[in-house]
Amino acid sequence: MAAASHKKHFDRFPLHTKCKHGILSEYLRTWVAKVALDKRDHQHLLLVDAFAGTGGDGEGNPGSPLIMVKIAREMARAVEERRGRPITIDVVLIERHAGRRARLYERIRGPRGVLPQNVTILDGTLSAHADRLAAQYDTAPAVCFIDPFGVKGIDLPAVREFLAGPQREVVVQFNPTGALRLAGAAHRKSPRQRNKLRAQWATLDLFRDNAVTLEAMNRSIIRSQSSFKAAKHSAQIVLGEIYGDGDLPAAIATQPSREARIELVVEEFGKRLADAGAPYLTRLPIFNERGRLQYVMLHASPHPVGRQAMKECYQAALNKCPLSAEAVRRMRVNADGDVEQAFYALGRARGGGEVLWAKGAAGSIADFLIRETDLFPWQLKEVKQILDGAGWRSKASRHTYHLPPLPDSAD
Ligand SMILES: C[S@@+](CC[C@H](N)C(=O)[O-])C[C@H]1O[C@@H](n2cnc3c(N)ncnc32)[C@H](O)[C@@H]1O
Repeated sequence: MAAASHKKHFDRFPLHTKCKHGILSEYLRTWVAKVALDKRDHQHLLLVDAFAGTGGDGEGNPGSPLIMVKIAREMARAVEERRGRPITIDVVLIERHAGRRARLYERIRGPRGVLPQNVTILDGTLSAHADRLAAQYDTAPAVCFIDPFGVKGIDLPAVREFLAGPQREVVVQFNPTGALRLAGAAHRKSPRQRNKLRAQWATLDLFRDNAVTLEAMNRSIIRSQSSFKAAKHSAQIVLGEIYGDGDLPAAIATQPSREARIELVVEEFGKRLADAGAPYLTRLPIFNERGRLQYVMLHASPHPVGRQAMKECYQAALNKCPLSAEAVRRMRVNADGDVEQAFYALGRARGGGEVLWAKGAAGSIADFLIRETDLFPWQLKEVKQILDGAGWRSKASRHTYHLPPLPDSAD
């Protein structure tokens, strides 16, 4: 996204941004309810918005910071009522741009000009505050929302540090086109060849004052050469901040299509999140009004229940999403997990036994598929039809399936 469209972003949120906010709201509410009411009886939870922005758009639509502040307030009340003991839900909002930070402050402060006690607005970046957050919230379960323009500013070491705490999750609004562009810039060949040709043309006697033209051309060649090197170097640094070590541009070059390159940059970033301690990863595509992939929201959780909750929230948010029915349909298709792979995983884990289908029942097929594979809730019907078609429904109980053992791959 160019600087001009960054400015306009906060005038009026596009529909896919509202869709992003819908998913985030559903998830944060669910996460707070689940974590606050679990048996560990937490006193303190933390929500971090690492790329906060202005808090909302010019038309009064709330942005992620206002959404977090509202959810923290409402859920603290609801949890206290439910469990009879108070809970503190802190919200930390980080925004590097002074003007946007000032607008954010204006939107969040109360009538007497002060921020609610549980809200902090910080200047700078997640990396600048990662140590302090780790020390101050060392035992608090937390979710961090990472939502840059493009991909610049995602800082893998800071994300790792955040995920190192207990019950930590991140939701990253990942822009695969931005990552691909960056990898291209980091890998680009020098324009020396093009400049050589220009120099050859310049030697032709076509110009009135050849010597002057040549000198000007040489100067421009040197300038473009050095700005090329600087741009390449800075792209390499940013790419390193996002992906760490590894030759991503070389891997991209081997991909057969743009779609495959897009999937690769997302998958590689997802692996970094998984390695950082949040292996239950969910890939949530977000399409724009024209029905094209705009972002991939990546949710990384240390626990399969977190993955299940996010998939259910995504489904619920899509049902209320302001995008056209066709765009939503494409998002679902793009999100779909691989049914064949899911069957293999099911066979490996539960093959050779009688297994309940029901969602919510301990060890059930439905829960296994949502927690341990890439399938989404709307795909369960198809799986059930396949199991029924195979004649695996138990004769004794219609809620149970007898899954034959998975044949050994060595057979
Ligand atoms: C896409 S906007 C955030 C929108 C916001 N999350 C929402 O949903 O309403 C990205 C914001 O991150 C800020 N920003 C850019 N780089 C940053 C960094 N490294 N750390 C913190 N904020 C940054 C930008 O100034 C911009 O306001």
